[in-house]
Amino acid sequence: MTARRTRLAILISGRGSNMAALIYASRAEDCPYEPVLVTGNKPNAAGLALAEAEGVTTAKLDGKAKDFWEKLDETLRAHKVEMIALAGFMRIIPDDFISRWDGRIVNIHPSLLPKYKGVGTHQAALDAGDAVTGATVHMVIPELDSGEVLGQVEVAIMPGDSADSLAERVLIAEHQLYPRVLSDYLGRALDPDWISEEVGRRALALPETMYKTSHGAPAWRVGSPSSGKFFAIMWMRHHGEESVGLLVKCSGQEEMAQLIEADGDLYFRPQYYGPSNWIGIRLDRPDTDWDHVHQWLQRSWLECAPARLAKLHKVAAEF
Ligand code: GAR
Repeated sequence: MTARRTRLAILISGRGSNMAALIYASRAEDCPYEPVLVTGNKPNAAGLALAEAEGVTTAKLDGKAKDFWEKLDETLRAHKVEMIALAGFMRIIPDDFISRWDGRIVNIHPSLLPKYKGVGTHQAALDAGDAVTGATVHMVIPELDSGEVLGQVEVAIMPGDSADSLAERVLIAEHQLYPRVLSDYLGRALDPDWISEEVGRRALALPETMYKTSHGAPAWRVGSPSSGKFFAIMWMRHHGEESVGLLVKCSGQEEMAQLIEADGDLYFRPQYYGPSNWIGIRLDRPDTDWDHVHQWLQRSWLECAPARLAKLHKVAAEF
């Protein structure tokens, strides 16, 4: 099954050569992301003109405007952006913006992090007498250049290198690294087999559970092999495009309606299963909250477990 593509925004401040590398890599058929927007804090950034020439939508925002971050957030939402790639975006991002897009912003930085955060990385590597430097793709968190490292590439420092000559070579390496690391990261998060395994690991860690398919879909039961009940079922269907989700039991139609109303991007009412209180949770998103999925599996387990098991666990307050 081919997964759908994540809607990617690329944020730039200048030349946009990493942006170009991301766009060109997205032309491969199996690329798991689709650049749907290029924007940034400089309306005259050269990269914007290139993005337009390549047929990618751009938004020219004024980074000096007071409401810049609000406008940026609005623009990203209007384009249904799911993931943001910073590519030479040279503004410090405020914490509240990062928390709104938590787990959905990646950056490329021209050093082997945690070495040389901030600017002046190439000169810093030369001054330190390092034999190698390189580039890092990492998740963005409030602390500057400090999020989880997703991938790195090393670049040798040659005798006679200047900060400029080094920057030029590191840039070539960046162009190879960024699309590959982003594709691996998103491809895994959207891969139905990987998602099923993640669900299965959590489902089977609950007491007296077993794997059994339900109408061909991976599913998990609780209770004895003869009288057990399903408490979790994978959902892999066409909705115009592939979608992968998990079905779990909620308390009833009212709760289901409330949850879908509150977060219609995450929850859905699955055909056939909805009337018997199975609610769908979409899992083919780049920012799946696996702790949340785990809590739902526990809830559904309790709902479906035979009375003797459920009682035991309620009393033991194990959950
Ligand atoms: C790249 O080298 C990128 O790693 C760096 O700016 C350059 C942008 O070039 N980013 C940072 O220093 C972020 N702290 P580009 O506009 O041609 O992609």
